[in-house]
Amino acid sequence: MSAEWVKSEWRAKPRVQMPDYTDADALKSVEGKLGSYPPLVFAGETRKLKQQLAEVSEGKAFLLQGGDCAESFNDFRADIIRDTFQVMLQMAIVLTFGAKCPVVKIGRIAGQFAKPRSSPTENVNGEVLPSYRGDIINGFEPTSESRIPDPDRMLQAYTQAAGTLNLLRAFGQGGFADIARVHAWTLDFTAGAEGYSEYHKIANRIGDSLEFMRAAGVDGSSNDTLSRVDFYTSHEALLLEYEEALCRVDSTTGVPVAGSGHMLWIGDRTRQPDGAHVEFLRGVQNPIGLKCGPSITESDLLKLIDTLNPKNEAGRLTLIARFGAGQVGEHLPRLIQAVQREGRKVVWSCDPMHGNTIKSESGYKTRPFDRVLREVREFFAIHSSEGTVPGGVHFEMTGRDVTECTGGVRAVSDEDLSDRYHTACDPRLNAAQSLELAFLVADMLHKRLEEQRAVS
Ligand code: PEP
Ligand code: CO
Repeated sequence: MSAEWVKSEWRAKPRVQMPDYTDADALKSVEGKLGSYPPLVFAGETRKLKQQLAEVSEGKAFLLQGGDCAESFNDFRADIIRDTFQVMLQMAIVLTFGAKCPVVKIGRIAGQFAKPRSSPTENVNGEVLPSYRGDIINGFEPTSESRIPDPDRMLQAYTQAAGTLNLLRAFGQGGFADIARVHAWTLDFTAGAEGYSEYHKIANRIGDSLEFMRAAGVDGSSNDTLSRVDFYTSHEALLLEYEEALCRVDSTTGVPVAGSGHMLWIGDRTRQPDGAHVEFLRGVQNPIGLKCGPSITESDLLKLIDTLNPKNEAGRLTLIARFGAGQVGEHLPRLIQAVQREGRKVVWSCDPMHGNTIKSESGYKTRPFDRVLREVREFFAIHSSEGTVPGGVHFEMTGRDVTECTGGVRAVSDEDLSDRYHTACDPRLNAAQSLELAFLVADMLHKRLEEQRAVS
């Protein structure tokens, strides 16, 4: 956040994964409109989130980040937003119970529209087409016309993000998020589902604690903390024309803020230390995420940390590790050790999705639940041996009953994938798989707490 940062300077840097718009006038007109519209978030909120992430970096809070791989214009519906919000709150209660600390909740939502792709073209039914890059850039429909990048899509993304965020704020503050009500869904769900008896026991223990508190006079009607939640938004800051147009100067501090979401992250494919994405994000005061895949070197990581968090501010930078089950042991220790050696303050979060994507026998892109779980276990085990803090988890998930990832107690099989495979991009955990994972992560957090108590 240096004084000499200019929001358009990224344009002079090498860029990857961004579209080439053919109609420069249309692009300029969209940028002008977005530049005059209100920002979606307020700088004070991003500072509050940063403080909460600072707590995460010290192990005093836990981060839950989750949502769609790619939001879609077709799926812009209140029930879809509600279901994702609801399951994230249910997960957060379960995690709070395991970790005995607050859970910071951040959705991959209200802006998660742009996707990096491994190839510029894709083969659909024998036809080679430009790749789909997310609804903010081009259309999912497999025709060459729909795949042309269209700047007007940014306006629709802005409108959808604003509507989504508005509903999330209403849910968060208007009574929907009351802890007893949210937990009642978990109790119901675990009571009714086969194979959930262990999870139901834990849900009952949480329920008992809530009943005890109510008897003691503490519940949602007497205490705002139990009836309202702070729910933050995040997305990959890939489409820099959109990000620049929504960048504002915060009137309180005079420091620029990205107005498109509370937290923005840099993807594993766009984290070149001298590239456009790093240049843009270094200048905004929001909390920033950085995806770290197997190819990141210690020296690049330290260089990126220097650029993105020169003042070593706690909560500013979240490193989102995504190596793949079985590969965490090769990469995470070397990165943790480099960060520790240099005394850098970061949040370590685990994305067990992006390193575990496989093609199923039936041809679907999927992620086996066991591999997702194994990567989280490896992440926790390594932090335990390094003496560092496993700060959070990052999932691609939805509140809907989709069949995109295989496994889980209510097992989704390879044959089931075709039933309800709705994702516009990567396979997501469904509501049941997400909640199950929360119970399993809560158990890891609980064991970690017991280990710490035993040594102190
Ligand atoms: C993503 O989070 O959707 C993504 C593309 O991840 P990564 O940059 O880690 O591959
Ligand atoms: Co994805």
